Amino acid sequence: MPDPLDVRPAAGPSDDAQEAGPAPALSRRGFIQSALAGAALNAAPRTVGAAAKPAVPAAAAPAPVPAAPPQPVRLNINGKDYQLALEPRVTLLDALRETIGLTGTKKGCDRGQCGACTVMLDGRRVNSCLTLAVMAEDRKIVTVEGLGAGNDALSPLQAAFIAHDAFQCGYCTPGQLCSATALLGELRAGAASAVTPDVRGRPALTDDEIRERMSGNICRCGAYPNIVRAIRIVAAGQA
Ligand code: FES
Ligand code: FES
Repeated sequence: MPDPLDVRPAAGPSDDAQEAGPAPALSRRGFIQSALAGAALNAAPRTVGAAAKPAVPAAAAPAPVPAAPPQPVRLNINGKDYQLALEPRVTLLDALRETIGLTGTKKGCDRGQCGACTVMLDGRRVNSCLTLAVMAEDRKIVTVEGLGAGNDALSPLQAAFIAHDAFQCGYCTPGQLCSATALLGELRAGAASAVTPDVRGRPALTDDEIRERMSGNICRCGAYPNIVRAIRIVAAGQA
């Protein structure tokens, strides 16, 4: 049976062919095979030229910068003074957790994106992972351990978070609580937010206001509806 890919021309008289003798016939199969082989050769890395080039020397690694020596730092945390010796590069978060042992403040992203490390500095919330400990000297630091009234008493927000099921795993909760505590202070002071419709008046306590003001605190468990409810109930009680 003839090969359907074999389309060699039918043999016939040809002056050139007769003079040069029988030429090898090029079938379609043969043409495709040689074309593929050529393409493969072109695609292969050209190592001959590359091997001839001298290797570029790698850039020398920068010399490590020696750590600055520890220096005395005095921190006031939850009403108590701590005299520490810290390298200037130590964050407030690491000082709290690693040096002092206040592990209620959590490390999530360590780059200012999740809010798990939120504490209050002079009543204002900050990401402690983005705050150097030396920057907090002589300021009043409040962590989740200091929100209650002492003797393990819960703050109204802590009690509301429990009563309204405002957490699941609880990892974000210390940051949520510090942030919400500062939020209540902002509302009492009449501070406007990005969603306050009329910045000339006192902001109304809407869920939009609470969501906007809590937007820096991420909850991977998605407990947001109950977090908003707990804050709204406490804020309404303080209004
Ligand atoms: S750990 Fe500080 S913002 Fe995430
Ligand atoms: S309760 Fe789990 S991350 Fe918020």
